[in-house]
Amino acid sequence: MKVAILGLGAVGRGVLDVLASQENGLVVTAVADSRSALIESEGIDISAVLERKKETGVCGDRNLRAADVVKTADYDILVEVTPTDAETGEPALSYIKEALARGKHVVTSNKGPIALHYPELSTLAKEQGSVIGFEATVCGAIPIIQTLQHGLAGNEVRRVFGVLNGTCNYILTRMADEKLTYAQALLEARELGYAEADPTYDIKGIDAAIKLVILANAIWDLNVTLDDVDCTGIDQVTTEAIALAEEEDCTIRLIGELVPATGQMRVAPRLLPKNHTLVVQHTLNAVAVETDLAGDITLIGKGAGSLETASAILSDLIFIRDFYDRST
Ligand code: HSE
Repeated sequence: MKVAILGLGAVGRGVLDVLASQENGLVVTAVADSRSALIESEGIDISAVLERKKETGVCGDRNLRAADVVKTADYDILVEVTPTDAETGEPALSYIKEALARGKHVVTSNKGPIALHYPELSTLAKEQGSVIGFEATVCGAIPIIQTLQHGLAGNEVRRVFGVLNGTCNYILTRMADEKLTYAQALLEARELGYAEADPTYDIKGIDAAIKLVILANAIWDLNVTLDDVDCTGIDQVTTEAIALAEEEDCTIRLIGELVPATGQMRVAPRLLPKNHTLVVQHTLNAVAVETDLAGDITLIGKGAGSLETASAILSDLIFIRDFYDRST
């Protein structure tokens, strides 16, 4: 199947790296970054594009843009991995709608459009016989969407509770272990490519809150918005507060919580015993799912990072290839 990729930040480059290293029947026919695009219907030279991007900062022709790729390129699946805008979802929202209207499948790591417009996008996809995959929007490499949609089908989920933001977890870990200040730890997280393009989303708890909204709307049709989440970030957490917690054998983690039956959603720094299952280190995320039949299930894995998020994108791509490839 033919794949077009919008966005060549850490996630987009990770997806290209993985597609270049595997024989998986997926051919990349177009790429776009914020200032250029490249369209080659027989397949682009991935190594050359990555090299050009590294050396010049652009991936292709400066006269072409992402919108040209969406509208004119030859592709079966649009991989939309541009930065999140949590207020409008744009420009990603328009790209996704346009691709679905053309009868294409869409795979995205972009939280804005899914949190804000999942019901509309899902209806549009169904009308076109297409799929919209968004595994990469929540908890990076952890297959939480597949787990909730399919793995735990038939269960009543009573609560989803856990560490949903890798950047905050990284910052809190570095503050505790290395006594870094909040600002130093944030700088590291940005340099390592974990933080959002606008890191305020991470540290104010907005990114974790958006993930709760995505789960609430996409899994349980709750029709909620970011304003429905009681949200506090980690920007007021000090090294001293963490040191005090440690004296009591506890530590601080940013915890997101969703109760599907009531729609109650909360993100806040919480004090947890250091040996608690959810006290994971660095960019790990940990999600506990409390159910009626399966009991409690906790998923732990890398919540941010280039290849880790590419893993989630790839799982959606391969799902679509296996179930929707119309060429075979
Ligand atoms: N900035 C996000 C995080 C990326 O740190 O968790 C993955 O959603």
